[in-house]
Amino acid sequence: MNIHALAAMSRNRPVYCWGAGRYGVMAMDALRRHGVGITGFIDKTIRSSRDDTNKILAPEAIGSPADGFVVVTSMFFEHEIESTLLAKGYKNERDYVLYSDLKRWSFEIDVSGVCQLKCPTCPNGNFTGHKLSQTMMSFALYRQILDKLITEVDFLPDVQLYSWGEPLLNPSLPDIVAYSADQGVAVGISSNLNDIRHLERTVQAKPDWFRVSLSGTGNQYSLTHRGGNWDKVASNMEQLARLRDLYHPEMIIEVNYHFYRNNEKNLDEIAAICERNGFLLKPNAAYIDPLDTLIDYAEGKPLPDSMLEIAQSLILDIDAVIQDCRLSPSDSCVRENTIVIHSDGTIRQCPHVFGNQYKLEKKIFESSIFDIEQIFSKRDLCARCKSLGMNNFYTHFLSCTNQKTQSFSLA
Ligand SMILES: C[S@@+](CC[C@H](N)C(=O)[O-])C[C@H]1O[C@@H](n2cnc3c(N)ncnc32)[C@H](O)[C@@H]1O
Ligand code: SF4
Repeated sequence: MNIHALAAMSRNRPVYCWGAGRYGVMAMDALRRHGVGITGFIDKTIRSSRDDTNKILAPEAIGSPADGFVVVTSMFFEHEIESTLLAKGYKNERDYVLYSDLKRWSFEIDVSGVCQLKCPTCPNGNFTGHKLSQTMMSFALYRQILDKLITEVDFLPDVQLYSWGEPLLNPSLPDIVAYSADQGVAVGISSNLNDIRHLERTVQAKPDWFRVSLSGTGNQYSLTHRGGNWDKVASNMEQLARLRDLYHPEMIIEVNYHFYRNNEKNLDEIAAICERNGFLLKPNAAYIDPLDTLIDYAEGKPLPDSMLEIAQSLILDIDAVIQDCRLSPSDSCVRENTIVIHSDGTIRQCPHVFGNQYKLEKKIFESSIFDIEQIFSKRDLCARCKSLGMNNFYTHFLSCTNQKTQSFSLA
């Protein structure tokens, strides 16, 4: 769904943005630029908006589709809000649209081409081929990139400030976050939280959400977060909570807990930390990257030793997943509308690949988004990937997590 179709669909109806945080305000601005007037916000917890001209209603104020058209503008609670709307008789793309469906493109800007850890399921720890460049993105380069995206992309409410690297290692991260906020673009960070030299200034700059990636506690942690130190991370999480309370209480903090066969027992400890500090907990079956190596493997090349052992620790057997993928190919891919911009300004063909040969010839400044769209529509890599059904490889891990979390009282 594009923003023009939304404008037509919502004509002559009051339009509400459900989610009054920064995403809501960004989305409202983008909608207004396209002639969609917003009547107000709906939110369970937020009672005042930076945009004082708009009222904020409680969810109960919306009883049925007759009360107004809804644009769901909460990224984190999108599914929860959608369920509430469906229960009230709303129908997708008739009475409401989801924020994620409105975005034609998602952007991952890898502000750090470096990670200090060597996790065995991550290409930073296991890749044997010709790697991407290992540089830090300067603030000047980031500013140029964001300015370009704002000019060329219709609906750009947010960007993600990481892909493979560790964003907190970049001393310019606070400036990058602050500039994005000034430009009205929400940002998300994901960190292993082993090095927090730049954390305080980063939180002061007010990122919208902050993810902490974990995979166990104690000695267990450093088996899968190789090179990391659990005690340091545990203490840094407490510091993160203090900084949030001090500088930016609205920042959403989420713990992404990677499940392996042997770290389920540590979840209670993590749940207690999350509860004490007001963090969201998102358990997630650990998967294995990069996809370029997995495609080679599905085509018959051996898996490198650096991936063989850790593959045994995953909750799903990768051979069985690859076989399933092969048997049920499909043409759609949740990743094909993501543009990943590496720290040196090059563009990767897919968020899950790591090999240097899968970058586009031209850097972000040498192409328009339209040019990139044309190139993306003919990607050989995607054709190869889809012919093996590997575009669904990661979906298997995601859906197994969904089933698994239903059995946790926390979920
Ligand atoms: C490769 S990391 C890079 C960002 C940052 N260094 C971090 O550790 O969060 C990007 C995202 O992938 C997720 N991730 C990393 N390894 C994973 C794994 N084995 N399974 C599932 N997700 C993983 C992390 O939680 C993170 O949000
Ligand atoms: S089809 Fe495969 S290679 Fe292409 S974007 Fe999707 S996962 Fe990546």
